[in-house]
Amino acid sequence: MEETLLKTAAPPLLAWFRANKRDLPWRHGRTPYSTLVAELMLQQTRVEAVKERYGEFLRRFPTAEALAAASEDEVLKMWEGLGYYSRARHLHQAAKIIAREGFPQTWVGVRALPGVGDYTAGAICSIALGLNEPAVDGNVLRILARLYADPANIGETGTKKRFSALLKAAYPPETGEFCEALMELGAIVCVPNGAPMCGACPWNGLCKAHLAGEEVRFPVRSEKRERRVEEIEVCVLKCGEKYALKKRGKGLLAGLWEFPNFPRSGGAEACARGTILARREAKHIFTHVEWHMTGYLIEVKEECPQYVWATAKEIERNYAVPSAFKAFTAWIK
Ligand code: ADE
Repeated sequence: MEETLLKTAAPPLLAWFRANKRDLPWRHGRTPYSTLVAELMLQQTRVEAVKERYGEFLRRFPTAEALAAASEDEVLKMWEGLGYYSRARHLHQAAKIIAREGFPQTWVGVRALPGVGDYTAGAICSIALGLNEPAVDGNVLRILARLYADPANIGETGTKKRFSALLKAAYPPETGEFCEALMELGAIVCVPNGAPMCGACPWNGLCKAHLAGEEVRFPVRSEKRERRVEEIEVCVLKCGEKYALKKRGKGLLAGLWEFPNFPRSGGAEACARGTILARREAKHIFTHVEWHMTGYLIEVKEECPQYVWATAKEIERNYAVPSAFKAFTAWIK
C-alpha cells in the first residue's frame, strides 16, 4: 500500500489536532503510568465516563508504586461504576510488575503487561514512549479506509495488518500526537454510520472517498463475507399421516427438532428411496452461518426407525422445530 498519501496527510492532521483537540484530563502531566491507567480505563468505556473518574483515580494512586501498595478491594472500589472489573485487577497486577521492574521500554514489554492487547500496547508505546508503534482500532481502520477509499473488509485480520504496516511506514516523529490525532479525527469528525463531517476535516482535499463523493461507502465491513455458507438438503419424510424428525445435537439450535438433512450430495434420494412430491429452495441466515437449503417432501413406505415419527398435530404441540425450516414445515398438514 502506498504510504505517500498518509505521509502527506500527517502534517495537516497534526496541525488540525493542535488547534482542535479536546481538553481531556489524561492529556495533562502525562507519564507512562498515567497513560497506562487512561488507556485501560478507555477500553470499553466512553471518553465522557472516563473523564469523570480518571483524575480521582490518579490522585489516589499517583504512581505505579502507590497502586501496587494498595489492596485489591481498594482498587476495585476506586473503579466502581466503570464496569469490566478485570481491567482494574489487571491494572493492579501491572502496577506491581512496574513497581518491581520499572516501566517496560519496548512494545513486547508493554504488550506483556496484564490487560494490554495490541491496540493498547500501540497507544501506550506511541503516546508515552515515543515509539513508532501504531494503535489500530475501529476508528483508525475507518478513517484510513476512507482516506484510501480502500474496499477491503475492515473486519478481516489481513486488513488490520496492512493498515498497521502502512501506519508504521508513515508515522511522523511526533508519534504520540499522531496516534491521538488519528483517534481524535475518528471520534469527532470522521465519525461512523455515514455521517462524517467532511467540511471540518483536515483531509478533505486528500481523502479519496470524499473526493469521489463516496465517503458513506467506506469502510466496507461485509458481515456476509465472514459467514460460512452451508449447502444442505432437507428431507421432509412423510409416511401416512406422520413425518420424520430428529433431535439436533450440540451447537447451533441444540436440542431443537429438525427434518433429516444432509450436506448437498444427493442425500435426499439415498435417505428416502421414496417418491418426491415437492421440492423447494430456502435460505436462512444466522450470525455466523448461512444455510442454503433445498427441501424435498418425500413420501416413503416405511417409518425408518432412526427417526421419531409424529403427526402434524403432535409436531405443532410437542416438537420445537426452528423457524429456519419454516419453508418446509409449510408442507406439514
Ligand atoms: N480512546 C482510547 N485512547 C484514547 C486517548 N488516548 N484519547 C482519546 N480517546 C481514546
